[in-house]
Amino acid sequence: MSQNTDIKISAIRGSFLDFISDPFYYPELETVRYINDGLMIVSGGIIQELDTYDKLKYKYSEIPVTSYPGMLILPGFIDIHIHYPQTEIIASSSTQLLEWLDKYTFPVEGKFHDKNYAQKIASFFLDQLLQNGTTTALVLTTIYPQSVDALFEEAELRNMRIIAGKMLMDRNAPDYLQDTPKTGYQDSKSLIKKWHRKGRLLYAITPRFAITSTSEQLYLAGILKQEFPDVYVHTHLSEQQSEIEKVAQLFPNSRDYLDVYEKFGLVTSKSIFAHCIYLQDSEFDRLSQAGSTIAFCPTSNLFLGSGLFSINKAKSQNNPVKVGLATDVGGGTSFSIFKTMNDAYKISQLQGQNLSSLKAFYLATLGGAISLSLEDKVGNFEVGKEADFVVIDTRVTPLLKLRNARNNPNSLTDIVDELFTLIILGNERAVKATYVGGNLAYEI
Ligand code: GUN
Ligand code: ZN
Repeated sequence: MSQNTDIKISAIRGSFLDFISDPFYYPELETVRYINDGLMIVSGGIIQELDTYDKLKYKYSEIPVTSYPGMLILPGFIDIHIHYPQTEIIASSSTQLLEWLDKYTFPVEGKFHDKNYAQKIASFFLDQLLQNGTTTALVLTTIYPQSVDALFEEAELRNMRIIAGKMLMDRNAPDYLQDTPKTGYQDSKSLIKKWHRKGRLLYAITPRFAITSTSEQLYLAGILKQEFPDVYVHTHLSEQQSEIEKVAQLFPNSRDYLDVYEKFGLVTSKSIFAHCIYLQDSEFDRLSQAGSTIAFCPTSNLFLGSGLFSINKAKSQNNPVKVGLATDVGGGTSFSIFKTMNDAYKISQLQGQNLSSLKAFYLATLGGAISLSLEDKVGNFEVGKEADFVVIDTRVTPLLKLRNARNNPNSLTDIVDELFTLIILGNERAVKATYVGGNLAYEI
């Protein structure tokens, strides 16, 4: 038997759309590739070829084709900041961030001491991601190493690209939710050795935010990053005014919030900071210089009353900062990337900025991949990338059907319009199927 006979080859037919460059910086219609009737060949979970059906049909005539007539096929969505332990407390009414953390978040995170419980929620959580077309995510856990094991074990079963790490918290939280600088360091180190680059899994050093870590803990987090430069750093930054004031009290020698993390070597090209609503110009500049990423969490920013993030400021020509889209469940109100884009659009409108549909879909695909330094692996349909993709029905509800009445739009401007209707009218029902590494992972 030759070596290659075991490698599964498959062929998918439909309308493919992906990005080849960034619509924030180039003429929008030139950043997108659309193949109205395309065929994608996947071998061993990797994209082998993508072209028009007519061009490839004879070359691969012996391979059975899975056809999605009238469906739009996009790269799998990328959610760059989401808390799996908060799945169960989504939609909990409260005032603002710090009270919401005390009242709902900390108690539910305490339950993840129990590995069985963690496993049950991790499984549910990952299935929710797949049902919403999300195939890659940067995920927060709890302080308990077993909660990290549970997530990674379930992600491994599904072959998903999940980045996660143990939460570090050694103050300003209930006793049951605190580690120490030393145990936080040691547990993180063991987990890095166990999980980082195991299959598609990756590790992120995750101090929750400056309020819940002492300088000693942040110092050791920085040492860990030096010892394992390839892993990520993931935390929150500048989400609400009361949080920023408290950080200034706790770290009086830091010139601003970002400086707290900078002092400990935590602002790097693989660092992701959620929210960043109230950054000063200098903080934007320093994030840009470090090559760090901002996670834009629109549904959460509205739900918790945090404020309006300026995407145009972050994506400025002069000091560009990488940005990805994030649901931030359970502060966020939905697992759906469409709903996330919907609120991102409205937040931009309120600031006199227009977030076009191409920009929004870019952020959820190639932009998300770049923001996680994963653009060599996922984010679009380039040959050699991992075959994560989502099959979308743009006419799934009666209203979408009425609005998108054209049978098979083939001008790019029609497609751009159709994508916009998904942002405003779409939800998880529009996701007909989700493929992970070339395999069907979810189907309605
Ligand atoms: N800042 C620190 N922890 C959290 C959290 O769990 N959710 C949000 N939205 N912000 C935070
Ligand atoms: Zn968060």
